Amino acid sequence: MRIAMIGTGYVGLVSGVCFSDFGHDVVCVDKDAAKIARLQAGEVPIYEPGLEDLMARNVAAGRLSFTDDLAAAVAEAEAVFIAVGTPTRRGDGHADLTYVMAASEEIAAALQGYTVVVTKSTVPLGTNRQVKQVIAKSNPAADFDVASNPEFLREGAAIDDFMRPDRVVVGVQNDRAAEVMAEIYRPLYLRDFPILTTDLESAEMIKYAANAFLATKITFMNEIAGLCERVGSDVKEVARGIGLDGRIGNKFLHAGPGYGGSCFPKDTAALARIGQDHAYPMQITETVMRVNQEVKARMLEKLRDACDGSFNGKTIAVLGVTFKPNTDDMREAPSLTIVPALIGGGAKVRVVDPQGEAEGRDLLPGVKWEDDPYKAARNADLVVLLTEWNEFRALDLKALARKMAQPRMVDLRNIYTAKAAKRAGFETYIGVGR
Ligand SMILES: NC(=O)c1ccc[n+]([C@@H]2O[C@H](COP(=O)([O-])OP(=O)(O)OC[C@H]3O[C@@H](n4cnc5c(N)ncnc54)[C@H](O)[C@@H]3O)[C@@H](O)[C@H]2O)c1
Repeated sequence: MRIAMIGTGYVGLVSGVCFSDFGHDVVCVDKDAAKIARLQAGEVPIYEPGLEDLMARNVAAGRLSFTDDLAAAVAEAEAVFIAVGTPTRRGDGHADLTYVMAASEEIAAALQGYTVVVTKSTVPLGTNRQVKQVIAKSNPAADFDVASNPEFLREGAAIDDFMRPDRVVVGVQNDRAAEVMAEIYRPLYLRDFPILTTDLESAEMIKYAANAFLATKITFMNEIAGLCERVGSDVKEVARGIGLDGRIGNKFLHAGPGYGGSCFPKDTAALARIGQDHAYPMQITETVMRVNQEVKARMLEKLRDACDGSFNGKTIAVLGVTFKPNTDDMREAPSLTIVPALIGGGAKVRVVDPQGEAEGRDLLPGVKWEDDPYKAARNADLVVLLTEWNEFRALDLKALARKMAQPRMVDLRNIYTAKAAKRAGFETYIGVGR
């Protein structure tokens, strides 16, 4: 298949590279000319494990290329994927469809021969029909169908998720488009990964329902963690105890500083908005959003407690600022609320993150970037473990404590235990829900 991938961000780039690895001919398009120039030079603009090698292999095989010439890429393609951003629209929580609609107009003008226009971006109910109308209106002669193909990959494990998905969801309006989509995903079908073919509206809803459900699961556990702290239970034991129940499952039960990232905050907001627009408030999702804010606020209280009630004059080392490990993505990361609050309270903040500096430099003004946790902890009053990078999972706690002016730790990912921290010389150890 000849595929054009419009949008070369976290989703578009991974999808384009993986489709080329399936054996398809893929042209990745972005309107950001600087990004395309880097890609053409063999440089991957994001941090995603394994992506650089896979990209180089498929470029070398002649199946993968990059351009900012959308029209040329679309004219050649049998399937055009839209993988542009759908951030939260300012003011009302709705998904901003400006980029999707602009891309649709551009695609319309360039279509040649029968083409399936596939939305991979996460979009509200009815958007695929809207894309169809926009294309049909601006190019009445175009021979095309639309398809919805929401993406479920996780940053940090994106290639494995794409190559070995729990499922692929495809929404279509007719067999002709279904056949093109089946051909694109044939390598997965042959390996027995489930491919769910459904209608457009169900495919659109599956994506929002999945993300809202996962955000609910995490938030539920974060709320249980708060209660654990008051009654003396250990949320890690509780998570294990309930996770062994097959109906609950053991994933997404780790208590932490509240969900963030490029998807859950905006997708829960968009689902809540869709509910309001249809006079059917999504009460659970709205509550989850509110509780998540409270969870974040509770984390700051923990930090303040560890600093005897005030950040003023304290030196604080923050380990990890990306929204999760194995990505450089900072969108809605907990660090973006926590670090400014520390600085605003009068603390000096040192930050260590294996990949976060390039993205984080402008987002976290006033911090000192360090490349080593022990250096960051020198004469510090508090260490905060914020993102569970592997680099922070096996710290020499004794060496860390010895460097500090006051050996205190707040571990917002529950990597260590109070017992181990105390044994290593920490006078204070505060986790989440224990
Ligand atoms: N990031 C994730 O983990 C993830 C997972 C599943 C689904 N999604 C969804 O996928 C979509 C894309 O997310 P992302 O994180 O990859 O976004 P991103 O912001 O990283 O990338 C979007 C890219 O699209 C480009 N673009 C915008 N308009 C364009 C146009 N008209 N022509 C060419 N290029 C254009 C931008 O320059 C940018 O490079 C969103 O709807 C998101 O909700 C994201």
